[in-house]
This record gives sequence, structure tokens and C-alpha cells, in this order.
Amino acid sequence: MTSLAVVPGSFDPVTLGHLDVIERAARIFDEVHVVVVHNPAKSAMLPVARRVELIEQSLAEAGINGNVTVTNWSVGLLVDYCLEVGATVLVKGIRSEVDVTYETPMAIVNRNLANIETVFLLPNPAHAYVSSSLVRQVSELGGDVSAYVPPAVTRFLDEESAN
Ligand code: PNS
Repeated sequence: MTSLAVVPGSFDPVTLGHLDVIERAARIFDEVHVVVVHNPAKSAMLPVARRVELIEQSLAEAGINGNVTVTNWSVGLLVDYCLEVGATVLVKGIRSEVDVTYETPMAIVNRNLANIETVFLLPNPAHAYVSSSLVRQVSELGGDVSAYVPPAVTRFLDEESAN
């Protein structure tokens, strides 16, 4: 049986930590869908379509291809997407106890709702403190985020700040 996993998130913007999780998920599962979800609890920096584009470019430039597809989901529960495409597993990166506290209720709810399991991957220590919110803050204040995000994101943010 083909294993299909979903790597969901806001990805606003995609970071090197996200890329690491996606790459590792793509080695564990036959097929991976990266799903950009609008999280109403967070005020967004980038439109969802741009986030999808930046993930696609970043994956291509990192040579992560073949079994990874990027899409978005905005019409309901994430588990509905999983059921629609036949995915049984969600993959999330866990950097710290804060992430465990944030992710645990979601994992339990997703399992209760539709029997979708969540697999947590520990970070590459190099990316353990990288978050999209940190990147947004540094970028919005004019700082250099190139150590935290893929080159495609750095280029995009540089172009945006030049305009
Ligand atoms: O990168 P984020 O913002 O931490 O990702 C959180 C996300 C988008 C994965 C989560 O908010 C989510 O799954 N939203 C979809 C709506 C949903 O299914 N909610 C119930 C699950 S707890």
C-alpha cells in the first residue's frame, strides 16, 4: 500500500526548519502533500498563493522533488483534506516543549475526528530556534533572514523591500 502523509502549516514564510521536515517526511513516506492552511489565529504576512509558490521554488532549488506536492486548503478541517486524498498521517516538526503543548491537542482532535495519526519529527539542531514568526519580525524590521529561510524566500523578501 502507498503511504501518503500531509505536512500542514501556515508556512508564512517557509523556513529552513520546514524544509528539513518536508525532506525527511519525503524519505519516510511514499508520497507527501505539503498543505498551506490559512490560520485565522495568526495575522498573515504573505497571501496563501505566494506561500505555495515559495515552497515549490524552495523544494525545486533544494532538489526535493518527485514525491512532494504543494497545495492549499481553506475550506474546512485539515482532516477533511486528508480523507479526500487518502492520507492517514500528519507530519509536524517539534522544536521545543512549547511546540509539544501547542501540537498535542491538535493531534488528539485530529485522531478523534478522523483517525488521522500525527507523527512528530525532532528538528535538525541547526534549525531548532527558527520560526516563521521570528522571520516575519526580523524581515519587517529590515533585518537579514537569509540564515533562516531558503534562498527563494530571501530573494522574494529582498525584492519586496526594494519596491
Ligand atoms: O503553522 P501553523 O500555523 O502552526 O499550522 C497550524 C495548522 C494550520 C496546521 C492548524 O491550525 C490546522 O490544522 N488548521 C486547519 C483547521 C483544522 O483542521 N482545525 C482543527 C485541527 S486542531
